[in-house]
Amino acid sequence: MTAAVLGVMGGSGVYDLPGLEDVREERIDSPWGEPSDALRIGRIGGTTVVFLARHGRGHRFSPTGINYRANIDVLKRAGVTDLVSLSACGSFRNELHPGLFVLVDQFVDRTHGRPSSFFGNGCVAHVSLAHPVGPNLQKRIAAAADAEEIGVHRGGTYVCMEGPQFSSLSESKSYKAQGFDVIGMTNMPEAKLAREAEITYATIAMVTDFDCWHPAHDAVDVAAVIAVARANADKAARLVARLARDFPAEREDCPVGSHRALDGAIMTAPAQ
Ligand code: ADE
Repeated sequence: MTAAVLGVMGGSGVYDLPGLEDVREERIDSPWGEPSDALRIGRIGGTTVVFLARHGRGHRFSPTGINYRANIDVLKRAGVTDLVSLSACGSFRNELHPGLFVLVDQFVDRTHGRPSSFFGNGCVAHVSLAHPVGPNLQKRIAAAADAEEIGVHRGGTYVCMEGPQFSSLSESKSYKAQGFDVIGMTNMPEAKLAREAEITYATIAMVTDFDCWHPAHDAVDVAAVIAVARANADKAARLVARLARDFPAEREDCPVGSHRALDGAIMTAPAQ
């Protein structure tokens, strides 16, 4: 059996995890370079929880500058089996209003130039990313939200832009026309790398703004994002605490194969 270990990746406005008990800080070396910060490893109920601030405490790393490979690698080395990403996002739909949590199930990658795989020449692998979010993990998040009476919207597509600038009006309208639901700057390549590391991944996309397409709202700026993200931080911590308290002790098989993503994925012949 594999013990379940819950990872939490804190995005903008989420630099710590209140409720984490018996916390120790650990800096784990990675051959992929420096992760964003030390891991904060503790316990909520009977579950081991590992927290990492995606941008580092003090928000030192830009979406482009984050070492996503090192971040996922150190979480894997810490034993994380299931990773919940807490991520501020803009919304392309009226009903996905600021303050709402969206449990997205798809990603579109519009980033460029970010190292997005642990594999390459020498060891070629192609994992499936048809279903990047673990459905059981997402169901558990939804159940925790219901138990805590936190409003969530289930399902949606998160488009990941490079940034760091926000979108132009024309880009924003075109993302909306393409049917994307929310936008952020960080969940790719994070979700891809989690899959390669056989970590089950799910995102709680916390809507902070309407980007710039909405005629009745000002264009997004950092002040708006941070104000809503801070106002939501307690809610996010409550949701994660409930999720952790109700988490199974053993890692569950993931219906979309996150736990065995590398089975059959490696093309390179083993060295003779
Ligand atoms: N993060 C929060 N709001 C965003 C937006 N409108 N665009 C990109 N990333 C965001």
